[in-house]
Amino acid sequence: SLDKPPTVSPVGPDYRSESQKPTATVSTPVEFDTVTVLPQTPQLIALLTMIRDKNTDRGDFIFYSNRIIRLLVEEGLNHLPTVENTVTTPVGRVYDGLSFQGKICGVSIMRAGEAMEQGLRDCCRSVRIGKILIQRDEETAQPKLFYDKLPEDIAERWVLLLDPMFATGGSAIMAVEVLKSRGVPEDRILFINLIASPEGIKNFATKFPKLRVVTAFVDQGLDEKNYICPGLGDFGDRYYTR
Ligand code: PRP
Ligand code: URA
Repeated sequence: SLDKPPTVSPVGPDYRSESQKPTATVSTPVEFDTVTVLPQTPQLIALLTMIRDKNTDRGDFIFYSNRIIRLLVEEGLNHLPTVENTVTTPVGRVYDGLSFQGKICGVSIMRAGEAMEQGLRDCCRSVRIGKILIQRDEETAQPKLFYDKLPEDIAERWVLLLDPMFATGGSAIMAVEVLKSRGVPEDRILFINLIASPEGIKNFATKFPKLRVVTAFVDQGLDEKNYICPGLGDFGDRYYTR
């Protein structure tokens, strides 16, 4: 997939003509209807440009990643079930609205996924959060499961699975297997992700056809070390230690 040229499109507000808009590389098109890619707005592209830049320092990396994570969580919540809810306003009129239905929890794939927990907490007060520690072997890129701690009633909840990087898909697939072994049906899991590879998306969507994915960007492919290209390097290192 790295052989294919990236899709470069004009990005900008609708009131400008196409010729007046700057061009930028936008997300690779995806053929699976379970996968939602955030709208490729100038805001999103500018935020992604900040975190992809190797010269961005840790403080800015955290700040701009957090902004994208917030957009992802807000979009992820749109995939949860709702019921009609009619309310009366202070001026005595009715408004036909909606309420969310169903219990949720977050599950982060440690360590990088933990960076997405605050964005979820900002949107869902006192949300329960489980953890799964999976580490990718630096040589082989094979995932290894070390630890998990999940809410006891997780089988009755919608699960927002959190991991910013989706490369071969191995770590996310392993995490979903853990969730399924605890009784969570596939169609009640939403995988929330910042940057995906086409290979990861394909592996995952073929294996779990009912599981929804919300991502900010599908990149061009993987390099020989199974890093996402152009990617942003090692997310966990840049967010936590570099
Ligand atoms: C990274 C990333 C994902 C995984 C993606 O984690 O956060 O969990 O690699 O790669 P995959 O799709 O090929 O499995 P890593 O194991 O490097 O650990 P970290 O979160 O501690 O950085
Ligand atoms: N993990 C990362 O943090 N980045 C990649 O590109 C691949 C796996």
